[in-house]
Amino acid sequence: MPASATSGPACFVPAAAPALPLYLLDATRFPAWRDAQSPRVRAWVEAHGFKGDALSVLVLPGDDGAPAAAVAGIGDPLDPASLGHLPTLLPALSFRLAADSPLAMPPDRALIGWGLGAYRFARYLKTTRPTAKLAVDGDAEAEALAVLAASCHARDLINTPTEHLGPDELEAEVQTLAMTHGADFRCVRGPELLAQNFPAIHAVGRASHRAPRLIALTHGDASLPHLVIVGKGVCFDTGGLDVKPADGMRNMKKDMGGAAHAIALARLVLERALPVRLTLLVPAVENALGPDAYRPGEVIATRAGLSVEIDNTDAEGRVILCDALTFAAEQKPALLMDFATLTGAARIALGPDLPALFCNRDELAAAYLDAGTAQRDPLWRMPLWRPYLSYLKSGIADLANAGASRMAGCVTAALYLERFVPDAQDWTHVDVYSWNDADRPGKPAGGEAQGLRAAWAFLKRRFAH
Ligand code: BES
Ligand code: ZN
Ligand code: ZN
Repeated sequence: MPASATSGPACFVPAAAPALPLYLLDATRFPAWRDAQSPRVRAWVEAHGFKGDALSVLVLPGDDGAPAAAVAGIGDPLDPASLGHLPTLLPALSFRLAADSPLAMPPDRALIGWGLGAYRFARYLKTTRPTAKLAVDGDAEAEALAVLAASCHARDLINTPTEHLGPDELEAEVQTLAMTHGADFRCVRGPELLAQNFPAIHAVGRASHRAPRLIALTHGDASLPHLVIVGKGVCFDTGGLDVKPADGMRNMKKDMGGAAHAIALARLVLERALPVRLTLLVPAVENALGPDAYRPGEVIATRAGLSVEIDNTDAEGRVILCDALTFAAEQKPALLMDFATLTGAARIALGPDLPALFCNRDELAAAYLDAGTAQRDPLWRMPLWRPYLSYLKSGIADLANAGASRMAGCVTAALYLERFVPDAQDWTHVDVYSWNDADRPGKPAGGEAQGLRAAWAFLKRRFAH
């Protein structure tokens, strides 16, 4: 069963619905706002110690004692997360952004922030607390609603445990997307991967009772610029025979986070009819333990014809991605993008909130980063520092999938991928954590879409008319 969006319209009401005014301000704007209030309201605000600090909120009573309005302190009004605290902190009533609010927030940013703050992964919960609702103009904000839905879709996919989101279910997700938009759908499964020359995907996934596969969706006229989006779909990463310790394995249902980002971005391309020919590729496997598991020291073939010595079966993401990238590059697309929960090292370098961007073109990287800054959905560029490719030398194969050195682990992983991307191919690679370790306003603990709004804004700037 495809995972379904668990949030969305429930936290919105139509623009015309009755709703209480919501004033947004910050500490600087607070005194002027307070001084313009009635003595009653001023006393109430004072009694509650409300000063307009970021992430604070206060409901204001009317003459009858019932809630009449709310006032919220927010940070950056361009950052959707600024009002991520409101849907759960406010009472479950309807609110609208007050036209005379001291701080104006663009309605699309507010909608996205509200929806992300209201999100809850409710698939296994009997009851959930209703959130406060925001009045929105759905027609005017169709784009923001699509971005929100795509982000929540990615969260749902990442949050769904592997038993309910294995390679079969990931395939069903992409098939549903294809059917919804009249796209072509293809899937190469199990031994057929060998027959069709995807040996590396097969090697990583062969130990699981759930067949490894390459899932493909294609849509759009061949005359349009071709965009290929690839996502790492490791539905669970035990580490394989170089097994992960319990701590490191605990959250590895999220190792299809790259696939979730790729599916969410493809969904936006299709829903918003970006004028491109789109190919979505998801190599989907379980990196499982078993008698048929690929082994350390094994030399595997790849679609590109390069032999790879398996130094560590836990460096499996790059092994499945290399066959998908080779297949993608064969089609000489205008742009090749991939997303992957590829390394722990990217988190050591940049922490959990900043996805690492690798790109073989400076102008593309700059445009991607700019889009992230503008969307308040930042990424940080990391170098494809070629000399470190020496860390992946093998004595018996063209390269190894890992090496003795753990230095610059996200760089060496990206360099491994780059070996499979022709020099002439424009390419971006994002190493993304896909997870919030703890609840924060607008960022609930669990699966997270990171850099998705950035990627979408970057694509629109590059390909929209
Ligand atoms: N899926 C992991 C990377 C990962 C771990 C991402 C934790 C986010 C959080 C990946 O398959 C992996 O295990 N990579 C190894 C590579 C190493 C064996 C060369 C890593 O990063 O330690
Ligand atoms: Zn791994
Ligand atoms: Zn992995």
